[in-house]
Amino acid sequence: MSEQRVALVTGSSSGIGAAVARRLAAAGIRVVVNSARSVEAGQALAAELPDARYIQADVSDETQATGLVAAAVEAYGRLDILVNCAGTTRFIPHDDLDAASPDVWRHLYDVNVIGVWQTITAAVPHLRANGAGCVVNISSQAGVRPGGSSIPYAVSKAAVNHMTKLLAKTLGPGIRVNAVAPGFIDTPWFDGVEGADEAKAHVAGAVPMRRVGRPEDIAQAVFDLAHAAYITGEVLLVDGGGHLLS
Ligand SMILES: NC(=O)c1ccc[n+]([C@@H]2O[C@H](COP(=O)([O-])OP(=O)(O)OC[C@H]3O[C@@H](n4cnc5c(N)ncnc54)[C@H](OP(=O)(O)O)[C@@H]3O)[C@@H](O)[C@H]2O)c1
Repeated sequence: MSEQRVALVTGSSSGIGAAVARRLAAAGIRVVVNSARSVEAGQALAAELPDARYIQADVSDETQATGLVAAAVEAYGRLDILVNCAGTTRFIPHDDLDAASPDVWRHLYDVNVIGVWQTITAAVPHLRANGAGCVVNISSQAGVRPGGSSIPYAVSKAAVNHMTKLLAKTLGPGIRVNAVAPGFIDTPWFDGVEGADEAKAHVAGAVPMRRVGRPEDIAQAVFDLAHAAYITGEVLLVDGGGHLLS
């Protein structure tokens, strides 16, 4: 495949998205780095990569999401790979039903589900133009197994998994759509979260790979899916084997 390909990685100023941007750039792919708030970090990452740009946009806002895709295409003249990594959560015990208010549901759906939908629908004509477009959505093991930081978060990621399959059916053969469902990955996601250190130690002691994940583990899976020409509609768990535990 041509090294002239272009990737847009939403939510790539930090953590998993930043690692994905680095991995794709290392393969000669030109990368658009994005975030909604952390502009300096996004700009710094884009400056560090060989041929990358930073574009600020909140993917939950329809105008900004559409504008992000348009600006990426305007910058490089094409779009081959879309990685939807922007995501958010609220850490709410599952039995605290009152805390998982409709406002929380709406906010998490706006970013995690509708944000993904908005970038994909804006990108489809451009991804199709090159005959081999590819979308990789970052969902979560919480969307596969009944766990995760909150019920609204887990349900939003399950929605992303189902959206991935439905769009894979709809958009083939010109565009492949897959998802990576990470387990516990050590990123700023958990900064300041009560109990995160204990959860990390627990996961590291329990999963077959005996460690939590690194952002680079997810970046490699994204890279592999982006190059797997006959894989579509797949939700790939990258969790050190955590899903094997009963
Ligand atoms: N870490 C884990 O264990 C884990 C496990 C499963 C799934 N995931 C998923 O992996 C993805 C990345 O998480 P991470 O661990 O790398 O967390 P992170 O380090 O906190 O990164 C989150 C990124 O998303 C951006 N973002 C958030 N809301 C956005 C919005 N509305 N529009 C555009 N960008 C937005 C953030 O930038 P700004 O806030 O500055 O905008 C940041 O760049 C998320 O979708 C998350 O659900 C993570």
